[in-house]
Amino acid sequence: TNAINGFKPDFLWGGATAANQVEGAYNIDGKGLSTADMVKYIPKEERGIHNFSMDVTADYIEGVLAGKVNDRYPKRDGIDFYHRYKEDIALFAEMGFKVFRLSINWARIFPNGDDAEPNEAGLQFYDNVFDELKKYDIEPLVTLSHYETPLELSRKYNGWYNRKLIGFFTKYAETVFSRYKDKVKYWLTFNEINVITHSPYTGGGVLIDKIPGKTKDQIAYQAAHHQFVASSLATKLAHEIIPDVQVGCMLARMETYPHTNNPDDILEAQHQNDLNLFFTDVHAKGEYPSYMNRYFAENNITIEKEVGDDEIIKQYTVDFISFSYYMSVTVATQGAHDEVAGNMIKGGVKNEYLESSDWGWQIDPKGLRVALRDFHNRYNKPLFIVENGLGAFDTVEEDGSIHDDYRIAYLSKHIEQMKEAVKDGVDLMGFTAWGPIDLVSMSTSEMSKRYGFIYVDQDDDGNGTLNRSKKDSFDWYKKVIETNGEEL
Ligand code: BG6
Repeated sequence: TNAINGFKPDFLWGGATAANQVEGAYNIDGKGLSTADMVKYIPKEERGIHNFSMDVTADYIEGVLAGKVNDRYPKRDGIDFYHRYKEDIALFAEMGFKVFRLSINWARIFPNGDDAEPNEAGLQFYDNVFDELKKYDIEPLVTLSHYETPLELSRKYNGWYNRKLIGFFTKYAETVFSRYKDKVKYWLTFNEINVITHSPYTGGGVLIDKIPGKTKDQIAYQAAHHQFVASSLATKLAHEIIPDVQVGCMLARMETYPHTNNPDDILEAQHQNDLNLFFTDVHAKGEYPSYMNRYFAENNITIEKEVGDDEIIKQYTVDFISFSYYMSVTVATQGAHDEVAGNMIKGGVKNEYLESSDWGWQIDPKGLRVALRDFHNRYNKPLFIVENGLGAFDTVEEDGSIHDDYRIAYLSKHIEQMKEAVKDGVDLMGFTAWGPIDLVSMSTSEMSKRYGFIYVDQDDDGNGTLNRSKKDSFDWYKKVIETNGEEL
């Protein structure tokens, strides 16, 4: 057999977004509130540049709804994609996108999550978006749940901690699969499903302050179990409803290295990798891996399952594995080290071989190759990189140009390593750069943490014209797509 030297001819190049970070129009055309609409902006002077600010408590939500709180919620406004999608999609088409990843905001379809009937105006909006994409032959890749659980499901049922969410979610999934069966072939179930263990509110609308006496881990893994069952049922439904459908899971890959060759460091890195890959193990292999038994026992975690859950998970595994990759993580078990930010792994330390982004994320293109090889060897399923990119400050020159060579450097080095991984034998379906147009940051709700090839005139306080303009990376990415990754 011949070695494969490049990306497939039908490689899916494009960009990725999430409804709550771009759409805005949070209370328009019948949309209900989602969990993301309650995440307030905290300026970095208060927050610290690195820290996440996405946890929300039950009291806080009630305070907001009672009008007792006066904070700003950038995810309610996004970048007004809701009204500007035609202009934005035209720009994606100009870059030559083959695929555009977006999420459906669940609360646009079922405003309370448990409604008897879907909201027609919400369904119509995504019809319009998919039709616009179709004009340019751009395939939609749709995430069902991207950190935007209907808020009422959080308030009434405490989110994914409650088993009832499985029913609400499968109804939502069935509704959108039936509606868009001729328009959408690629689906993802839960964005970065593992994030639920770091932030149960973000990942599952779970208000842990309402569950006293349980640890975060106990709560998160129970909620994750419900999501696994829901994901499998959605996969089943998709295959029944949509011909040629492909359904994937989605993991925030935290490729973890040992700081030294001390066997303790090696074991700790292996353990952290297991905790991360647990989520793709369940989705791809259809069962809970045995290494988790010990972790569950030692952390007093008992997952409540119903009869049939294990069979459902076993029977309806995913067709492909998708993941986000931004950085690698290094762990040390001995000595004092500088902690690094943004990686969500306890004890993550500075890797002296790597540089960091302005937000402390350790830039590691080769780590992407490592991740791809590991996934391939572990699952032997097609892989899809659905998020990668550099969050950075941009400067607009007097003539309006933006010279984002740092972003080009980041992306070209990562794509180079993807190419190497393909030569290594990895089956790679596509690549969607995160935030092809500047959007509201997930972790910090900032606008100034920019990922785009397209600049959006809006600042952290929500001021600006919202005008779109091209950065240098726009033409660069266009060339990458044109040459199928040959010219970087
Ligand atoms: C991923 C999320 O974690 O990373 C996105 O799926 C997010 O929603 C992206 O925006 C980048 O993170 P951030 O915090 O820089 O926006």
